[in-house]
Amino acid sequence: MTAEPLEIYLEEGDLLRALRSDVRTGLTAVPKWLPPKWFYDARGSELFEQITRLPEYYPTRTERAVLAAHASEIARTTAAKTLIELGSGSSEKTRLLLDALTARGSLGTFVPFDVSVSALRQATAAIAADYPGLRVRGIVGDFTRHLDRLPTGGRRLVAFLGGTIGNLLPAERAAFLRTTRAVLERGDWLLLGTDLVKDPGLLLPAYDDAAGVTAEFNRNVLRVLNRELGADFDPEAFAHVVVWEPARHWIEMRLRAGTPQRVHIPALDLEVGFAAGEELRTEVSAKFRPGDVDAELTGAGFATRRRWTDGRGWYALTLAQAA
Ligand code: AVJ
Repeated sequence: MTAEPLEIYLEEGDLLRALRSDVRTGLTAVPKWLPPKWFYDARGSELFEQITRLPEYYPTRTERAVLAAHASEIARTTAAKTLIELGSGSSEKTRLLLDALTARGSLGTFVPFDVSVSALRQATAAIAADYPGLRVRGIVGDFTRHLDRLPTGGRRLVAFLGGTIGNLLPAERAAFLRTTRAVLERGDWLLLGTDLVKDPGLLLPAYDDAAGVTAEFNRNVLRVLNRELGADFDPEAFAHVVVWEPARHWIEMRLRAGTPQRVHIPALDLEVGFAAGEELRTEVSAKFRPGDVDAELTGAGFATRRRWTDGRGWYALTLAQAA
């Protein structure tokens, strides 16, 4: 079947407004910070794809292995009619779920949901071509704002993979899980991918690879600000810094100014100064203990039904049901 036209709830103008507001808030805060969602222009998305293939970056291949091992059990347990994937990107790993659900014969509709029109266009066309008989309804939106646009009714499975939930701060995470629960009906399913707490000796290289791809990904957010807001950041003047925060069990990526910097951001009519050594936080990537995942799910109105991890206990897939 051909993919249906995308349902677009986020226009270019909305994105630019959100970027302006985030940049003004983050760069006038002490300490300075930016939300990680602005990494992902075309170049940032390509750099992230490269990251997923790095020897040091274990989450993507570990999640794929866990999903491959248990996709048929997920299909059997959920018997989902509709699969909704949040932050679907290229929907590459999702094919494991689509294969299992279509083999079981329950699935009628696939709903990839993403902020990127270009990623969704490609993904919906490719999936529709490879899964005849499947209805493919791509939705362009922000999963912190447009979840109420999701289709209703009929045994739904929401997949939120890749460990992307770790990019949200604890309060944002709680709000996201509550909103997701609110659009579901009792008995609907959530499949959540989370990276697990482990030795910093394994975590840190995953975010600071020898080839420097993650460093380029990190600096890319400054290039996005230069292009979209007319800013004059010198990305090479900022060093890639990765820190493990043991008390909060998250990884932080930062950009550290090597020398004093003055940056002009014409679209905001804003001038921002960086002292030598000053750091800008660009990403939080939280790591979980399995008990934390259950507690957060329970707090939001879900009940954990199954959890699978890889043999080394590095990554977890949790299947929860709306209670
Ligand atoms: C896509 C959010 C899961 O946090 O591991 C990879 C993004 N940042 N390397 C992560 C990322 C640096 C990634 N997520």
